[in-house]
Amino acid sequence: TDTYPSLTRDPRFAKLTPEHVAFFKELLGQDSAVIDGVNANADADLEPFNEDWMHKYKGQCRLVLKPGSTEDVSKILRYCNENKLAVVPQGGNTGLVGGSIPVFDEIVISMGRMNTIHSFDEMSGSLVLDAGCILEVADQYVAEKGYIFPLDLGAKGSCHVGGNVSTNAGGLRLLRYGSLHGSVLGMEAVLPDGTVMNDMCTLRKNNTGYDLKQLFIGAEGTLGIVTKLVVQCAQRSPAINVALFGLESYEKAQKAFREAKLQLSEILSAFELMDGTSQRLVHKIRGGNKPLENDYPFYCLVETSGSNSEHDYEKLEKFLEDVMSNEVIADGVVAQDASQIKNLWSWREGITECIGHWGGTYKYDVSIPLSDMYSIVHEVKDRLSAAGLLGDTDKHPVVDVLGYGHMGDSNLHLNICVRRYDKEVEKVLEPYVYEWIEKRQGSISAEHGLGLAKKNYIGYSRSGTMIGLMKQIKTLYDPVGIMNPYKYI
Ligand code: FAD
Ligand code: MLT
Ligand code: ZN
Repeated sequence: TDTYPSLTRDPRFAKLTPEHVAFFKELLGQDSAVIDGVNANADADLEPFNEDWMHKYKGQCRLVLKPGSTEDVSKILRYCNENKLAVVPQGGNTGLVGGSIPVFDEIVISMGRMNTIHSFDEMSGSLVLDAGCILEVADQYVAEKGYIFPLDLGAKGSCHVGGNVSTNAGGLRLLRYGSLHGSVLGMEAVLPDGTVMNDMCTLRKNNTGYDLKQLFIGAEGTLGIVTKLVVQCAQRSPAINVALFGLESYEKAQKAFREAKLQLSEILSAFELMDGTSQRLVHKIRGGNKPLENDYPFYCLVETSGSNSEHDYEKLEKFLEDVMSNEVIADGVVAQDASQIKNLWSWREGITECIGHWGGTYKYDVSIPLSDMYSIVHEVKDRLSAAGLLGDTDKHPVVDVLGYGHMGDSNLHLNICVRRYDKEVEKVLEPYVYEWIEKRQGSISAEHGLGLAKKNYIGYSRSGTMIGLMKQIKTLYDPVGIMNPYKYI
């Protein structure tokens, strides 16, 4: 489609034959574990595996394999490696950079059947589970034991923990529980030649040599397939409080964040930013009562997690009183019960889903020092207006430009909502956005990864030396190059 970098199929890869398919059917045994578009027309069944969550990328895969065990994965990869068949690992297919979608006829290896939770240590909080477990299922499982999964994000109902680890997803709890580089204690992964790397350590400390599993965290399926994980879960806080407030400027949002860290310190568990445009969008699409009566250019959502509800609530109220009386915030509301907490969060978590309303979005997921973080939204809006591309009529491809994100982690999601994808829009945005980030020593991919969308732009955030080292690692682990080709490396 229009959104693809121009690519040609790598002739080194073999084309699928009925003999290949017969091998996989024999291996996986049951019909439902193979979707075969080689011997039959299976377009409708293949479609969900060939298209991403945003309906932006479309692949041409003719075969989906659903392994049921690490041994299956190992045999599949060994065969693919020997026969030069390219593969794309796929979890819940909620990734936002086109990484989980084949580009040409790569085989999709879909991990959903590997979804067993193996064990949980109630003393240490270490959870052993398959890569194909759904994030929300894992979180609910540990919640029953008083623990919390260290990651939460809007796609929790369908993304897999293996996909989360492979993208090194950040999400809504990173401020409190840190990145998956710290929470993943152990991993089992299968290399392209079928070798099983077993590093299923369940302990927090393990300094015996190189920490190889770290390479797979954020590798986006380019080194091997993650099959099992050990995840350090934290004690779930019995007292959660959430407040949402409106602010007159981005400067005031920064002051509110500073003040929240000072006053809420150890109980602060999330600090999220939403601009007025994003909240008007959610209201327009979903309706319902707005949390605050008036409209503001900015909103922040603050969550506290502690052990004493009354004490935490008092602290949060006192914080709100202070920032209100100092005119840092213009208005605010504190959730009174669990359903109001969920409702306030939905104004933040619901943005991603509402964004696709008109047709599509150009997504930029960037880290920039906080002082500069929001100004890119204004600058991009001005550029698109000056180019005559942003407006209210069908003639204008761009509907609006909005920004929101994980303010506590200096991570902004800049979204350009479009009626249709358009090369003219793309030319105004790229490489301008990437150059803007590079000038500020930011990251062009804070948490979503590079996938296909950003494959040509890695150089804006990584030096030639680092890219060279990455290529060496890729060649070492995947010398034939079958793992998720055409993507960022
Ligand atoms: P997929 O989309 O299936 O795959 C993602 C990548 O990982 C691909 O490159 C794929 O090849 C690879 N992969 C998948 N499974 C494996 C495996 N077992 N072994 C090796 N490679 C594998 N991201 C954030 O960081 N923070 C957010 O707050 C956030 N919110 C989101 C909200 C919504 C509504 C949506 C749709 C997405 C959001 N995301 C967010 C994007 C995020 O990357 C994914 O939701 C999630 O981490 C991907 O998991 P998945 O199982 O869907 O992976
Ligand atoms: C989020 O923070 O909501 C996610 O990263 C998804 C998005 O960027 O829209
Ligand atoms: Zn995010």
